[in-house]
Order: sequence, then C-alpha cells, then structure tokens
Amino acid sequence: FKPKNGESKAASTILIRALKESSDSSPFPSNFLFGTASSSYQFEGAFLSDGKGLNNWDVFTHKPGTIMDGTNGDIAVDHYHRYLEDVDLMKYIGVNSYRFSMSWARILPKGRFGKVNKAGIDYYNRLLDALLHRGIEPFVTLTHYDIPHELEERYGAWLSHEIQEDFKYYSGTCFKYFGNRVKYWITFNEPNVATICGYRTGIYPPSRCSGSFGNCSYGNSEREPLIAAHNVILSHAAAVDLYRTKYQISQGGRIGIVMNAAWFESISDSLEDKLAAERAQSFYMNWFLDPIILGKYPAEMHEILGDDLPVFSRYDLQKLKNGLDFIGVNHYTSFYVKDCIFSACEPGRGASKIEGFALQTPHRDGVLIGEPTALDWLYVHPQGMEKIVTYLKLRYNMPMFITENGFGERSNPNSSIKNELNDVKRKEYISSYLDALVTAVRKGADVRGYFVWSLLDNFEWTQGYTICFGLCHVDYASLERTPRLSAMWYKQFIYENMVSK
Ligand code: NOJ
Repeated sequence: FKPKNGESKAASTILIRALKESSDSSPFPSNFLFGTASSSYQFEGAFLSDGKGLNNWDVFTHKPGTIMDGTNGDIAVDHYHRYLEDVDLMKYIGVNSYRFSMSWARILPKGRFGKVNKAGIDYYNRLLDALLHRGIEPFVTLTHYDIPHELEERYGAWLSHEIQEDFKYYSGTCFKYFGNRVKYWITFNEPNVATICGYRTGIYPPSRCSGSFGNCSYGNSEREPLIAAHNVILSHAAAVDLYRTKYQISQGGRIGIVMNAAWFESISDSLEDKLAAERAQSFYMNWFLDPIILGKYPAEMHEILGDDLPVFSRYDLQKLKNGLDFIGVNHYTSFYVKDCIFSACEPGRGASKIEGFALQTPHRDGVLIGEPTALDWLYVHPQGMEKIVTYLKLRYNMPMFITENGFGERSNPNSSIKNELNDVKRKEYISSYLDALVTAVRKGADVRGYFVWSLLDNFEWTQGYTICFGLCHVDYASLERTPRLSAMWYKQFIYENMVSK
C-alpha cells in the first residue's frame, strides 16, 4: 500500500490548518496520543529467523487442536519483514503513536541462561528508528503473552519465583538497548487474561486447568492461578524498581501495566448482585492493580480465599511501593454479573465457583448488555468505556491510556474485497466508544492516549485467523494490506482532534 503521489503533502498542509482550528474545540488534552496497537506473536512472524528462540506460543500452536483453524503465528502478518510498509501506513492514517510488543525470545532466546541475540536488538532498533523518523511515539510492551519456551522447560515459568529474576534481566536488557528512545514502557499486557486462560481454563499456554475447569489433562490446584499472578506482580515490581533506580532519571520515560478492563454491570439493583459485580472486578482487574498501586490484594479476595492467597513479604512490599506511572486500559466489552452465593447459578466464562458470581448472563427479561458480535465475549456497550474509566479514576486516581479498543468480525474468505473493506460496524463501534471516552475525559478522568486494536488483521490467539480486528485488511495469500473504511474514518477523526503543544 502507498498513498497516491502528492497526497501526503496535501494532507499535511490541510492537517496543519485543521490542527489550528481544532485546538480550541478538541475535547482531548494537548499531546494526546492517538495510535494503533499490535503484539509480537500476533504480527511479526519470522518465528525461526535470525536467532530467535522458540516461545510458549510457538510450541502451543504447533500442538494439534489448540487453535480453531489449526493455524499459528509462524508467519502472521510478517511485520518482521514488512515493518517499514506498516510504519508508512500508520503515517498515512496520521497516528502519532504505535503500541507494539517486543518478543522476549527474539531478544533473549534462552532467557537469562543464554546470550543476547544481536539480530533481535537490530530489528527493534530499526523499527524504533523508523517510527521516530516519522514522528510516531513508540509505546512498548515488554511481554504480550509470549515468553521464551526455555523458561517453561527449566522451571515452570510463572509458577516459579525464578521468573522474577528472568523478567528483571529481560527488562533491564530492553531499558539498556532501547531506553534512550522509548518513553513509554509497559511491563505486561493483560496478565489477568494470561493467568486465567493459562492456569484456570487452560485455553492458552501452558494449558493448565484448575478447580471446576477440567478440559486439560494436568494441573488442578485452585492455587496455581494465584501463584502465577503473584509472580507476575513481583516481576512487574522488580522491573519497575530497576527502571526507577537505574534508568528513569537519565532516560526520562514512564512505566505502566496494561489490564484487560471489562466493565461489570450488576444485573439488578439487589445488594447481592451489586456486591457480586464489585467482587468480579476485584477478582479480575483489581487482583493485579490493588497490590501494585495500593500494596495489598483486594479485601474480597482475602475474605474468600483466606490462606490460599499468597502473602507479600516486607521486602516485596518495599519494591511494590514503586508502583507505576500509568494504567493501561484494554477495554472492549461489558458483562452483566449475577450473585451466585445467595442464589443458585452457574459461574460462566472464566469465573470460578469460589468467587460466587456469574458472568455474561442475559438480563432477567432476556436483554443482553449490548449488541452481540462474532466473538462470544464482545458486546457493543459504549457506556462501559465511560464507566470503567470513571471507576479507575475513583479507585486509583492515576494517569490512564486506553491501550486497546477495537472490533472483531468473522473473516469471510468468500466475500468480495469491497465487502471486506466496508467495515461500517467497526467504524461505528470505535466512534461510539470514543464518544463515551470523551464524556469521561470531560468529567475529569486523566486519559492521555487511545490505541485502536489493531492496525492490521492478525493472529487472534485461539481463534487463529478466523477473526479480523484490522483498520486495514490483510490478504493472507499475498499479505497485501489495504485500509478499510474505519481506517479512513480514524484518519479524519485524528485530523480533527489532535492537538499538539
Ligand atoms: C486483547 C489482547 O491484548 C490482544 O492480544 C487481542 O488480540 C485483543 N484483545 C482482541 O481480542
């Protein structure tokens, strides 16, 4: 894909004019980041190229039956080789930031037990330089689900405290090589999803199941997700501590964490259901954010789990005090929540019996929380954006970035390219969620950026390539990228709303 001759120059002249006109009327603060997001495993491909080590997802996807369409991220959208074209595409859309993740196994193929892979460092140097050269701010995630397989083999990855040392070593390597150009670091992407899917439902690596979830053959302790999460929290704290003490002053960046932040709406006005909705949030998002920001697990977790909940030592608490600089919010959907302690009901997706709530139940009169979509977890409910941002402001009062928001549709290999590009529903989804975000910002939430998931169609984890999230369509035979209606809409939106200092 290339913009037509002269188009980018004309566009930038108009853009400057529009920026001047919009600076008074835009609801977004100056220097607000408008971007798109991606991740290494879902985008890069090149899974065996230039010294990269195998990661947990490489191994997992090669096992039969793990991915709906039997595919994997071996090639993905070949971002590793096509990153320049993709950066040009971002420039064309007009974003001023790009959120992407680094592949731990490309940088340290064997974790801290081997050498730094120079070719991996070179690749991220080229990507960073290409972005900065075009005025696009890099927003870098250190771990977006994929970790070196070596760590799983050696000591069971997140189930061992050893991983804290490895994560610290990996983050230190990234701060050292890239910190002069990266001003926004994210330690983890959605550790709540990775932990629940990896250690409770077993649908992500390392495919361990627990409690009432029994589709896998091994792992069965209800404590495993709690232990894995505890090690993620302490790994985060170790990386932040290192950044603060060794790099932050000279490099001047900020560091945060990204949570999957669904909105949980009580299904009724009853006190029981309202408490269940609170409990759902505590066992999902606050599970990680409370320890990192407030230095302790949520009260509901203590009450229900008692001694099963891991304990922070005095030394851990000292490191946790360094917290974080911003919260990354991945918000897509809302769920109704119903109490299961005082009334009989089935827990539903991802929730365990002990926690005592049911998710994703239609309202009593059969009403769903929002329009359903091709994904069983995605309901269109823009009000959820305003509610979750307001909830986070009240609970933690910290700067926030919407690090992901987007719309997935089933890909249809038989439909015409014309149909594929005419993604009216995605455009409407993004537009309505941005409206709701503006409402929250107007009410005083400190939100500093918004990233659409995703720039391109890509590998959607267990759904493989059956679901498309891209502002740009990808033809998987030729890997050609073509902007959709939503990309053109986002371009116009940014153009009207971006305010620089
Ligand atoms: C959140 C995850 O971070 C990303 O990897 C995924 O593709 C999107 N949600 C859409 O499901």
